[in-house]
Amino acid sequence: MKKLMDMIAGIYSGLWLLLLAWVLIAAASLTWNMKELYEHSMDEVKVNAKALFSQELIFRRWNAGHGGVYVPITETTQPNPYLSHIPERDVTTTTGKKLTLINPAYMSRQLHELMLEDAGGRRGHITSLKPIRAENKADAWETSVLKTFEAGKSEAFSREKMADGKEYFRFMGRLLVEQSCLKCHATQGYKLGDVRGGISISVPVEAEVALLEHKERALFIGHALLWGLGWVVLFIGGVKHTEAKAERRRVNETFRTLYSSSRDAIMILSTEGLLISGNQASITMYGCRDEAELVTMSLPGLCPEIQPDGRKSVEIEQEKRQQALRDEVNFFECVHRRVDGTVFPTEVMLTRMEVDGKTLLQASVRDISERRLAEESLKDRLTELERFHAATIEREFRIKQLRDEIAALKAASRLGDSHETD
Ligand code: HEC
Repeated sequence: MKKLMDMIAGIYSGLWLLLLAWVLIAAASLTWNMKELYEHSMDEVKVNAKALFSQELIFRRWNAGHGGVYVPITETTQPNPYLSHIPERDVTTTTGKKLTLINPAYMSRQLHELMLEDAGGRRGHITSLKPIRAENKADAWETSVLKTFEAGKSEAFSREKMADGKEYFRFMGRLLVEQSCLKCHATQGYKLGDVRGGISISVPVEAEVALLEHKERALFIGHALLWGLGWVVLFIGGVKHTEAKAERRRVNETFRTLYSSSRDAIMILSTEGLLISGNQASITMYGCRDEAELVTMSLPGLCPEIQPDGRKSVEIEQEKRQQALRDEVNFFECVHRRVDGTVFPTEVMLTRMEVDGKTLLQASVRDISERRLAEESLKDRLTELERFHAATIEREFRIKQLRDEIAALKAASRLGDSHETD
């Protein structure tokens, strides 16, 4: 557990920002999708309700165009009391049949009754802010919509709970005063083009609402999963990134230690041979005050003009640099010069390297004065040894010579003795 907490604490701050951004993106997407879903869920219902209204408008125009239409009086179709002032509201045909005048609104009401009996359970209502007939009074939603009609709008729709407690999609279109309407409505003070009222069509949408809720749930779950997945991916990525960063830091530190504690001068150069940076050993080696002084120089500037073999340093340096740039192994000895003018023998290794897509050169320089001294003294010893060796051989030769002489002398004296004894 503690390990996990440490890991979380160690995660770089950028990850938290990414995670936050992901939350915002997921939330924005969910909101937008929910809104789209809600707005378009009722599209079909809306189109149907609107079509129903438009058709009714045409029937009404037909009726109004005739100044009302005569139909037989039955139990359900009684004369309209609001037309009582019209002289020929009720007529009797030559054969004695009784007819009554049906105005458009009356026709609408009868159409709406038939509509309600229909399987869909749709409700129609003709209404106005100034109803002649009390039952045509607008309900709360209709009143608010009629007010917007007065302000210039021509239709409205919304999802509402109605008096029966059920959810309905409600559409309402306006009814403007046309020439044909004035016959009966002019007395109320209406002029051509005024808003006389409207017809609302309400469609029960319980099935649609259930479907919408189902879709909303699916959308929510989908987003939650995507959101969670995003978190997991980002989190794992973040942990990996943090680990990689720590590893990079470790490598960097190791490199820094190597670089700064190296006794060899390590310098970074541009491809033209200009110094870019150098470690402490290089500053000391060339007797510079600091790195700032060191980087004012170039590689040939660190050498005397002429090398001991008589070649120009600039030429050698240029040749070696080209070789290094071609990735050829580049290891050579030459003489370098300190700021104070003194020279010393060195061993140089030039290598090409890529840093952030840029080509640079790295020079490792080793001061080999001590090695040279050691070599010199070794050489001296060797000559001494050789001399000693030669002397030894000569002495041995001399000894052998002497021995031989002694042996010869001994042999000669023995010969003399034998002569005496014989
Ligand atoms: C033949 C006479 C007659 C004509 C023509 C007529 N109306 Fe009406 N209208 C009435 C009467 C009467 C009522 C009130 C009683 C009812 O509901 O039938 C009414 C009611 C209405 C209502 C319902 C609100 C209320 O006041 O109760 C609206 C809306 C309406 N008419 C609009 C119109 C429009 C628009 C036209 C023209 C296209 C028109 N009428 C043509 C007689 C007429």
